Amino acid sequence: MMLTVNNIEKSFFGSGKLQLAVIDKISFTVKSGKITAIFGPNGCGKTTLLKIIAGLISSDKGSIELNNKSSEKNKIGFVFQNYSSSLFPWWKVWENIGLNLKIKGILSVDIKRQVENLLVKTGIALPLENYPYVLSGGQQQLCAILRELINSPALLLLDEPFASLDYHNRILFEEKFLQLIHPQNIPTIIISHDVEESIYLADEVIVVSARPASILKKVKITLPRPRKNFMRISKEFTNLRNEILKHVAVK
Ligand SMILES: Nc1ncnc2c1ncn2[C@@H]1O[C@H](COP(=O)(O)OP(=O)(O)OP(=O)(O)O)[C@@H](O)[C@H]1O
Ligand SMILES: [Mg+2]
Repeated sequence: MMLTVNNIEKSFFGSGKLQLAVIDKISFTVKSGKITAIFGPNGCGKTTLLKIIAGLISSDKGSIELNNKSSEKNKIGFVFQNYSSSLFPWWKVWENIGLNLKIKGILSVDIKRQVENLLVKTGIALPLENYPYVLSGGQQQLCAILRELINSPALLLLDEPFASLDYHNRILFEEKFLQLIHPQNIPTIIISHDVEESIYLADEVIVVSARPASILKKVKITLPRPRKNFMRISKEFTNLRNEILKHVAVK
């Protein structure tokens, strides 16, 4: 499986007849089992790009292909930026994780078993019989990620999944996330405005400019896998960080 993003351009109509250019000629590829991080400032067009890749909105120019098919014809997992409103508060945790299975018409007893198996397989502990409000922000986000993974998507798109966590929880859940995602072999895009998170998670970091988002630099992340937290203080990590920051507003 391979995602190809080819020369995407997008403008919105702003106030009056003014065109608001949001994406400017973005091209990149993501192979199976690889994670690409898109690192850029607030409001530059990252969520818009992800929605175009998912086929939720159309681009003005360019194309998106997943194994030579347009992305609308594929099963895509999308974890939205606003996680707190992406879980149903009146559904238990296991029901939320099993949403896509329910849509397929799978029986509740089988959904529950599949959810339990997924947790055992990934070593993640969640209170499945509780409702989302008892979970921490990071746990809620894990639910949203598990809900997509259980559906074996052809492509996984995550929009700033750890943005609201404190540092300790962030590194904990980033580690869990990699444990979850790594065996799945799915091309994955993660949007982030945190340089350290981008490096820790990704195989490639794409640095994008302020709006309209255009590619400033693609940086290959050479750190070995599995990633370990001690790597964050390594010389290699610092060098990658400096290489990325050289291309943003540190001038
Ligand atoms: N449907 C829309 N109509 C008009 N303008 C839009 C629409 N969606 C987004 N925009 C504008 O496009 C720009 C980019 O928005 P987008 O949500 O893609 O940014 P972002 O990089 O994800 O920002 P953040 O880091 O804050 O999440 C913003 O100026 C936003 O106001
Ligand atoms: Mg966004």
